[in-house]
Amino acid sequence: MTFRTTLIVLNIVALAVIAGVILWRVFSLKREKEPTPANLAKFLEDEDLEGRRLERVLGWSLLFVLVVAIALPVYFLVEPSRQVVMQDRFLADSEERGAILFANSQSPAYVSTKSLLCANCHGTKAEGGAAPYVVQPESDLCIKEQNQGNPDVPACLAQPVSWQAPALNTVLLRFTRSQVKHILNYGRPGTPMVAWGIVSGKGVLNEQSIDDLVNYLATLQIPSAQAKSISKEAVGEYRTGGKQLVSQQEDALTKAQDELAKAQADPTTTPTGLAQAEVAVATAAAQLDAAVAYDAEVQDLSDGAILFRLNCARCHTKRWSYYDPTALKVPPPPPQGSGAYGPNLTGSSTKLQFPGKAGVEEQFNWVALGVPANEQYGVRGISSGRMPHFASQLDEAEIKAIVKYERSL
Ligand code: HEC
Ligand code: HEC
Repeated sequence: MTFRTTLIVLNIVALAVIAGVILWRVFSLKREKEPTPANLAKFLEDEDLEGRRLERVLGWSLLFVLVVAIALPVYFLVEPSRQVVMQDRFLADSEERGAILFANSQSPAYVSTKSLLCANCHGTKAEGGAAPYVVQPESDLCIKEQNQGNPDVPACLAQPVSWQAPALNTVLLRFTRSQVKHILNYGRPGTPMVAWGIVSGKGVLNEQSIDDLVNYLATLQIPSAQAKSISKEAVGEYRTGGKQLVSQQEDALTKAQDELAKAQADPTTTPTGLAQAEVAVATAAAQLDAAVAYDAEVQDLSDGAILFRLNCARCHTKRWSYYDPTALKVPPPPPQGSGAYGPNLTGSSTKLQFPGKAGVEEQFNWVALGVPANEQYGVRGISSGRMPHFASQLDEAEIKAIVKYERSL
């Protein structure tokens, strides 16, 4: 029998005993004759009262006083540590519930009826990932109804893309807990990140579940030093990424060319088969050109520019989160920093917001530490509490490099 069932059984027994006693009392009162009222009945004699009976009563009182005198201090001593133990237990339970909510079928905590599959997009260890998404066409051509969804007008076709989902094992280094809760409640409309909280009117999670998720995310956070070294390495990887993309596309082109040669040599190839192989070669060649151009651009970038792309562009540059230079159907991003979720930073606008030499320092502080929501930053900025801050994820020199780059935009 579990502890819980034992308690339930004990309760039932206790209730039955109480009910029995009440019934017995009611019936025995009915059976008894009318008793003499207490004020008319004769009480005990003095000899009786001051003898052993009095001692017995006093003995009991002494015993109860002793119990209170010992129990109270013991309670005061034990209570704080009992509270700590309970808090730890509450936290551990909450983290466990959060792990279940976060999990996907690859995670050990997965429960098919409860898990919300955050891990599908953010990675099973919250190391970051990608989410499939469909972007809608923007061309004026598509105002005409006959062009919408028309395969002959490629500019009006919705395009599937892969939207980068940020790593969450560093999320509490750049946001406070309440900022993360806000993101979870309201999501990021216009991105694959939907609203999860009831408060938004769109989600299903109550405050406790949102807390559970944040408590679970807290267990996954890596130390600031490790996050900083990952950020540092990412700059080098970004540069080699350009080269890798070129060599991948070279391989793809060679493969497509081989397929074409095979198709040409094979007498059984149909004309459509041949045409398809030719299109594949042309596409691979165009993708290689795009990769070469992208690599040339990347190799010229300053560290500040790369750090901006890696940390800031997802909010400050439209389309950046799904930019793939070889996906020729999706329009390339507009100029870096020209605004998306975060404001436009081009046209020297950060120099207006943070003017002069003092402004450089202030801009640094804004990017590194920020200010609480509703407080002023720069000349006319008012923080909304939605921008992450980077002092725990980037080192001083890196933030300075980003600020320098932003002021050049
Ligand atoms: C369908 C994919 C998907 C799912 C499922 C998903 N997210 Fe997201 N999430 C994203 C994307 C994409 C972003 C980035 C949006 C953007 O570009 O601003 C994001 C952003 C976030 C952010 C903000 C991080 C930052 O640094 O800006 C948090 C926190 C977050 N998600 C937590 C969660 C949690 C917790 C769950 C599960 C309840 C979840 N997400 C489920 C795709 C997803
Ligand atoms: C999750 C989205 C997000 C990311 C990532 C982000 N920002 Fe922002 N940024 C914002 C928002 C939103 C604002 C507007 C201010 C506010 O709402 O508090 C802002 C404002 C700013 C401003 C002030 C602009 C002005 O003229 O008022 C600067 C400068 C800035 N961000 C720089 C950066 C840098 C540098 C990074 C990367 C290291 C970065 N941001 C990353 C969302 C983001």
